[in-house]
Amino acid sequence: MKNLLNHAFNGTMRVPGDKSITHRSLMFGALANGRTVIKLPLRSEDTLRTIECMRALGTKITEKEDEWVVESGGASSLKSPHTHLYTGNSGTTTRLITGLIAGLGLYAEISGDASINNRPMDRVVTPLSEMGADIKLKESRYPPVVIHPSVLSPISYHMPVASAQVKSSILLAGLNTWGTTEVIESSPSRNHSEIMMKQFGAEIDAGEGRATVTGGKDLTPAEVIVPGDISSAAFPIALAVLKKGSSITVENVSLNTTRSGILDVLKMMGANIEIEELPGEGEAIGNITASYTPGLKGFNISGDIIPRLIDEIPVLAMLAAFSNEPCTVSDAGELRYKETDRIRATIDELSKFGIEFEEKKDGFKVISSTVNAIEGTTVKGYHDHRIIMMLIVLSIVTDTEIDIDDISAIDNSYPGFIDDLEPLRKDA
Ligand code: S3P
Repeated sequence: MKNLLNHAFNGTMRVPGDKSITHRSLMFGALANGRTVIKLPLRSEDTLRTIECMRALGTKITEKEDEWVVESGGASSLKSPHTHLYTGNSGTTTRLITGLIAGLGLYAEISGDASINNRPMDRVVTPLSEMGADIKLKESRYPPVVIHPSVLSPISYHMPVASAQVKSSILLAGLNTWGTTEVIESSPSRNHSEIMMKQFGAEIDAGEGRATVTGGKDLTPAEVIVPGDISSAAFPIALAVLKKGSSITVENVSLNTTRSGILDVLKMMGANIEIEELPGEGEAIGNITASYTPGLKGFNISGDIIPRLIDEIPVLAMLAAFSNEPCTVSDAGELRYKETDRIRATIDELSKFGIEFEEKKDGFKVISSTVNAIEGTTVKGYHDHRIIMMLIVLSIVTDTEIDIDDISAIDNSYPGFIDDLEPLRKDA
């Protein structure tokens, strides 16, 4: 990391495949009868956990470098796993497979690492139980998730929180439930499941903030081309905006509007961002060029934009610290239930650099401040990939070596993050 300091960054790069789309393509591939091909998947600790779980249900998955093949006899061929399903650090795996397995009427026990075992699962178990699922949780809230076979009935569910994981878990259960299951969202969340269900031939009807699926239809296999993950691209983009003399193009990134809220905020800040949309069907993709921008403006975000940038809030807090004006995030209480409490982690670690915050229950205000990075400052990553990568970008932008306790969690979403920046380094 030290060799990335005291340089500008220029050039073109790609980031690994989208994590949400990779998880879903493995799951829908397992439910489809035949051979699903996944091109440019994200190979990371989180998606490997989904591979293992789908294999344990009876799916054959072959991994080549840029292509995975999922072979399945379809939903009716899947069997209760012989072993406990381990989901590591992956909330998406844990919550989505709970719906998938409950819908199939199978038995399974699911748990993950210490972080997963402290994350709320009642948000998926409540609607699934309303459908008739028999699922037990520790203290009625946490993993292990123990699913007993039962026959489900369709429901219409108004989601109390905007969560694509909850929505997708219900829709996955609905796929194998006779009748029409409906999910109504408080704010629209990422719609990758709905897009992919259509691609795999499900009877799905989806609009802004609402989706219905009619179950019982066999899925047909598909070819999924995974775009680059905008949540990973957010880090080189922030680096280019903040580091004098830099300009980085990230090619082939998902521009799905349910995910691209960070680009809207960067524009509000006056950041130098150019977006080139590429033609294609299904998920929107394009190239994003971000360049150094002094004198960033402030922002004040709340409401419907929050689910569209939920995973980018730590890096936005860091960008906010370099703005000339105050920046406020509200309605983001969900951040307290991520890999770690991301409101606390962001404030605690960025405060070590003289950045002043006002903490709120559902967000924070970054008060205009001078970033004061001191060589050797010891910071914590909380085993949270997005907190760690945000701290690494801050270290590079301020040309200050910092001491992060453990950076291994980067591998959950962006293995190779540091290596990918090296070719862009412009010798000072
Ligand atoms: C995800 C949904 C979001 C997001 C997570 C991935 C998904 O979580 O934070 O990283 O793939 O569905 P919530 O649905 O809990 O908001």
